[in-house]
Amino acid sequence: MTTPAAPPRTSATGTPHTRREGRAKVTGEARYTGDIPFAELAHGWLVTSTVARGRIRSVDTDTVLAMPGVLAVLHPGNALRLTPGAGLMGPDANLQLLQDDRVPHVGWPVALVVAETQEQARAGADALVITYDEEPHDTAFRADHPGLRPTAPSPLAMPDVDQGDPDAGLAASAVVVDREYTTPEEFHNAMEPHAAMARWENGRLEVVDSNQGSYAVAQVLAKLFSLDADTVRVRSEHVGGGFGSKGLRLPHTVLAVMATTILHRPVRVVLTRRQMFSLVGHRPATAQRVRLGADADGRLRVVEHETASPTSTVHEFAEQSTRHSRTLYAADAFRLRTRVVPLDVPTPGFMRAPGWAPGSFAVESAMDELAAEVGVDPIALRLRNEPEAGPVSGLPFSSRNLVACLEEGARRFGWADRDPRPGVRRDGRWLLGTGVAASAHSAGVGASTAAITAEADGTYTVRVTAADIGTGARTALGQIAADALEVSPESVRIRIADSDFGLAWLAGGSMGTASWAWAINEAAVALRKKLADLPGDMADLPPEGVTAHADTTELLAAREQRESHGYGAQFAEVAVDPASGEVRVRRMLGIFAVGRVVNPLTARNQFIGGMTWGLSMALHEEGVRDDASGGLANGDLAGYHVAANADVPLIEADWIEEHDTYNPSGIKGLGEIGIVGGAAAVANAVWHATGVRHRHLPISLERVLSGGRR
Ligand code: MOS
Repeated sequence: MTTPAAPPRTSATGTPHTRREGRAKVTGEARYTGDIPFAELAHGWLVTSTVARGRIRSVDTDTVLAMPGVLAVLHPGNALRLTPGAGLMGPDANLQLLQDDRVPHVGWPVALVVAETQEQARAGADALVITYDEEPHDTAFRADHPGLRPTAPSPLAMPDVDQGDPDAGLAASAVVVDREYTTPEEFHNAMEPHAAMARWENGRLEVVDSNQGSYAVAQVLAKLFSLDADTVRVRSEHVGGGFGSKGLRLPHTVLAVMATTILHRPVRVVLTRRQMFSLVGHRPATAQRVRLGADADGRLRVVEHETASPTSTVHEFAEQSTRHSRTLYAADAFRLRTRVVPLDVPTPGFMRAPGWAPGSFAVESAMDELAAEVGVDPIALRLRNEPEAGPVSGLPFSSRNLVACLEEGARRFGWADRDPRPGVRRDGRWLLGTGVAASAHSAGVGASTAAITAEADGTYTVRVTAADIGTGARTALGQIAADALEVSPESVRIRIADSDFGLAWLAGGSMGTASWAWAINEAAVALRKKLADLPGDMADLPPEGVTAHADTTELLAAREQRESHGYGAQFAEVAVDPASGEVRVRRMLGIFAVGRVVNPLTARNQFIGGMTWGLSMALHEEGVRDDASGGLANGDLAGYHVAANADVPLIEADWIEEHDTYNPSGIKGLGEIGIVGGAAAVANAVWHATGVRHRHLPISLERVLSGGRR
């Protein structure tokens, strides 16, 4: 058939488009899970443990059940039995809620109070008396903890690397930089608290949830509650930030499903800000030792990197900081180690650029230290150690443009004028310095499906279980579909975040857009083929339109192996007041190479957001654990400072053209790379300003005044 004659058009991708749901969001018309009214809705409020280790001795439900509006108190004594082994990426015992009386950390869910209103549920939760048999706990992380051990084998584990002869390499090195770096516990703090509404409707479990991937969440719930996968439908139309916290751990979702199954009423559970500090994964503290052995000219012979982080006794999560050291620089020998220390603390999880963010702080700081030792410019040092192929994998790069990022960034930042000596530039009471660091993030793709329907009114409807967690994914997918169909984005309807649309990768790992785009492109090809075989024109289509489906599972499995990453270079200028210890970042510049950029507007948002977080990581963010109680001393937004407007200067982000068709869509993903290297660029600038090296984050006033002590 003939489709409407395409008007002359420019490509939709690569040009700025404002968010499709932007108007709905700024007018308040867009509703988040916690805002949507449901008939007969009951409200669940989580009760969490106040002790760090022990057993629940008693739960005094009678008093609370007599309170106004209270419908139920769920606790280990009366909860539904869940199926073990469920999890997003392998079994995760954090999902086994209210299954036994064991308390593994402060903030562990021990009960759910369900009531007619949220206020009544909260009042019930506040009044619930739980007694514990307390046991001694250990929440103090240190790299020389006797419990330090290698990570357990798992498909997600980062294997240790022993390549070449590091000992001989170190012995032969003219210069060895051997340093320890630490980063503290950090928390995502998505603006929208986690929320889920669950109800049974016509024999199906319907869940409205705030998550990063509704298909994955539906699969997890089906397994946990022993339901047919087809029985579960999960939707998440609008999500107010995720950063890795909305997918892996689902205490609110699991307990809402449990409560609705018991009570036969829709139930919604919303986490409080404080609960978000213990229940949705966080970035664990890291203690990292980096040893670089180099020739006198800075060419690396040896890269050694050992990272240790705490995990819980519930589930092992290891911060994979060696992701950075295994791909950035060439060397003759590598020794890379990932270690964990199980403690009585909440289970860490994925947080924006997991592994990459803390790993890049250590490695990019160590490279700066090496540059100073050998007297080579930090950018020249990086160029000198540019690998031909994956330094550890040996695989060809799908594309690698770190050099171009460093050179373009240096030009725009004015790096050539820099005096390499530290502590020589002043502006009144301020010491000034500049720093650079390299960024990288894996460019992965996950199997996804998509469907596109040609409608009789001449429009197209795309269905894909994507999630738009504030990134602008919905808008980018509209641009991608428009180009694939050769129509304008206005004639494309994008429907996302409904598990009924089928398998799709989640908005995680910087893989969302890349994964969904591939499936949409395949579906568009299939649809155009179908339409070409039909007589008439689009007005002659049946009322339900004509639909084509695509599934990239096999295409993905057939791909040759490549090492595929996005790269970047980050520059920072800081001013340090040596009298007060205050550090002000004056400007930051990031230049990235991340394949095809679909929407420059939202891409720039992602880079700047990530870089802001790098600044925040460098100077502000720190979860302080009180080892006496085992809980956080600052588990709220009053005590945990995230960079605010007053902390953030002009941040510029841009990118270079990069064509890479390892993913046929040309997309590498860019949601996380903005935070990678940012903290190191700031820390390196602080060294350049003051001559004092900061190896422990955050670079607080106290640390500046104490000369960078731990
Ligand atoms: Mo992201 S931490 O990969 O959701």
